[in-house]
Amino acid sequence: MRTGAAATYDPFASYADPREPLFTSTVVSVIGNIGMGKSTCMKCLFVLRPLLLGRRVVVLDKKRQGAEGEYGPIARAMGTQPVRLVPGGGPGASCINLIDPRIGIATSSGAATSEGRPAGQLELVQRVIAEYLGHSLDVLGIEALRVALLAAPGRAAADSREPTLLDLIWCLQHPHDGQVRSLYDDSWTAADVYGWGREAAATLLVLANGELGGVIDGPTSPEVSVDHPAGLTVFDISSLPNSGPALGIVMLLIQTWLSGLLAQRSAARQQTILVVEEGWHVSSSASLGEMFREQAKLSRALGLCLVAGFHHPSDLPHGSPARALMKESSTLFLFGQSEEVEVRETLSIAQLPRELGDLIRSLPQGECVLVKAGADPEHVSIGISDWEAAVTNTDAQLTGDAYG
Ligand SMILES: Nc1ncnc2c1ncn2[C@@H]1O[C@H](COP(=O)(O)OP(=O)(O)O)[C@@H](O)[C@H]1O
Ligand SMILES: [Mg+2]
Repeated sequence: MRTGAAATYDPFASYADPREPLFTSTVVSVIGNIGMGKSTCMKCLFVLRPLLLGRRVVVLDKKRQGAEGEYGPIARAMGTQPVRLVPGGGPGASCINLIDPRIGIATSSGAATSEGRPAGQLELVQRVIAEYLGHSLDVLGIEALRVALLAAPGRAAADSREPTLLDLIWCLQHPHDGQVRSLYDDSWTAADVYGWGREAAATLLVLANGELGGVIDGPTSPEVSVDHPAGLTVFDISSLPNSGPALGIVMLLIQTWLSGLLAQRSAARQQTILVVEEGWHVSSSASLGEMFREQAKLSRALGLCLVAGFHHPSDLPHGSPARALMKESSTLFLFGQSEEVEVRETLSIAQLPRELGDLIRSLPQGECVLVKAGADPEHVSIGISDWEAAVTNTDAQLTGDAYG
């Protein structure tokens, strides 16, 4: 099994290769104890090297390292900044404008409405409100939201600004007589529309003045651009609390952003890699796992490779989307694990022979068992260059040797 030969690996190539018929998914799982080399492997094989090949890479960075997520140095080394989503905003924090017309949910035809905004924008704002309230707005609330979304750009244009959440809230609170008359003749008045929009306006106000202040209520920061020349977007969600609505809402925005990116890239037959670092599945937002599951299902159509990290497979409840993802993977990188229960779970989920257990327990840092569907497991060592070692180092906090 260990040959000393160089092993090459590219999930897109294996997926397309007719000699690998059992390789049916571009989902990759990277599993192992903390400190054994998962992130280093993900950063080198699925971020730095694919970027050199011209692929687009998106990272969800959940793990804090010092003052930010652990992909900050990589983002800077590649000429961009992490998208730092920090409750309350502040210096160095990024913003995703909730009503940015470039970020609205694409419709099936991808077309904008005659008013020039993506038809899915209403749906996005509605979903954000529902995530906070725990239920959807009623139909009158949705209609008030639609009317305010139509009015918001005009209010911002009067000041030569891009419309933001605050314009939307203002328009919900001040429906315009002329607009209401032109929409409904005299059936309903501005006072009616004002009443319908109170719940939406209050919810958005609470969000803008609370956890999502500085996160969704300003113009979108340049590092969020889907066309960023770095080819890399790192969403640093390491400052967001695991409980409460903020993470779920931010994920909704990232998901929407990502759908737009994937639609654009798959239409041009370009591939994209989404790296989801360990820790995401422990968050209380159940929708997160569902979201990745959904993404994985669409991965073929979208030219997407989803790479997910895990350190405690035994924590993943049966039937959970995270466990399902791991099961679906056509590729697993199994790094060292010491606890018997974790080794057993890993082998059972990946349907591998028990004999591999001894090897997994004995793996040193930076070595793993590479399991590809339809092939014999290989014991490989992840060789990295000095430059890669410098930008991927997660010990910087301990040794004081920081890059970037
Ligand atoms: N392939 C490798 N080659 C050299 N050093 C490595 C390798 N993998 C990991 N390391 C070292 O181990 C440290 C921890 O690795 P990391 O990938 O962050 O672990 P994990 O993500 O599994 O917790 C790295 O900062 C690096 O110093
Ligand atoms: Mg890690």
